[in-house]
Amino acid sequence: MSQQHQCDEYISMVNLAQRYEEISPTAEPLILDTLRSGHYIGGPLILEAEATAAKWFNRQGAVGVNSGTDALILSLQALGIGPDDEVILPAITFFATAGAVCAVGATPVIVDTLENGCMDPNAVDNAATSNTKAIIPVHLFGNPAKLNPTEMWIIDDAAQAIGASPPPKQGILTALSTYPTKTWGGVGDGGFVIADDLELLQRVRTLGNHGLTDRPHVHHSVMGHIGRNSRLDSIQAAALIAMETTLLERVEKRREIATQYNAELHPDLRPLPHDPSSPVHQYLIRHSSRDQIQRGLNDENIQSTIYYPLPLNQQPALQKVLTRMPPTPTANRLCDELLAIPVHAGLNQTQTHRIIHTLNTAVSTL
Ligand SMILES: Cc1ncc(COP(=O)(O)O)c(C=O)c1O
Repeated sequence: MSQQHQCDEYISMVNLAQRYEEISPTAEPLILDTLRSGHYIGGPLILEAEATAAKWFNRQGAVGVNSGTDALILSLQALGIGPDDEVILPAITFFATAGAVCAVGATPVIVDTLENGCMDPNAVDNAATSNTKAIIPVHLFGNPAKLNPTEMWIIDDAAQAIGASPPPKQGILTALSTYPTKTWGGVGDGGFVIADDLELLQRVRTLGNHGLTDRPHVHHSVMGHIGRNSRLDSIQAAALIAMETTLLERVEKRREIATQYNAELHPDLRPLPHDPSSPVHQYLIRHSSRDQIQRGLNDENIQSTIYYPLPLNQQPALQKVLTRMPPTPTANRLCDELLAIPVHAGLNQTQTHRIIHTLNTAVSTL
């Protein structure tokens, strides 16, 4: 670490305590009201959070669930996808996208990405067979993944796309995560399935509530399906309702920081292209000496993260599951080059300048 920056504060990728401080005047009374009301599961706050999720994606409705992973699993189950079915997904995403497909017994088919990290629509078309039942475009880092017209079910993995304008809307169902580090993050695990088809959403709700189709509040109810427990709880809903009040503002701040990075970072750092609609869930640079650049940031007390170190088709856990392996040259290279740098709304100008200066120095001295 240089003498100059030895005393500089640590700049982290996300500062959840700072975010909570910003929303605590709204969040604390709501969370306390929830604790005092006894409405711990179900109740009006869940409905309000669901309506908020639907609004962000311009959809008719939403169902609160336990996590983004469950949102994907329940979406697949609601569409009847299971063993013998193939589901196409991109090589760059968080493992949960593939984990969800495996959880319903279906086989993931992993395809290459474009230079922005989202799935390549032509690679999807080339990989589709009569066994393919669904496609999961991941709106990676907030960039909208676009597909060619298709007859297959599409489930949008929008875990990283809250705040996009317009919101990505390719599929019949949208799966959202509200894990704390997400831009609309709660105070624990949570997620939503979002859709226009209210009947389909009711199926999701049933599957995530033990399969209850009859008199849902009576203990000895009649089960129409084999479901399980994946419900959003009211404390999460209260936190999310409070967190949403600053969501737009925080997304705008992220976009401003991204614009500044685009203008001031050394061109050799090749920022990952961002669509104008993107809420900039992550800001990434691309460089063949990525690890050296990351060491330069570490030395100056600046956190950075490698998203994602391996394309999905190289994940050890999937080696016995994959039956087909289309080539993924772009994703392979991106996984060697990508580095995410801090872009959260709590960054001030001094910190942003420090990040830019450190990166530009690191790249010029390679
Ligand atoms: C693209 C993507 N899909 C799915 C998930 C899973 O969400 P959760 O952690 O809420 O289960 C995540 C979370 O990191 C994600 O980034």
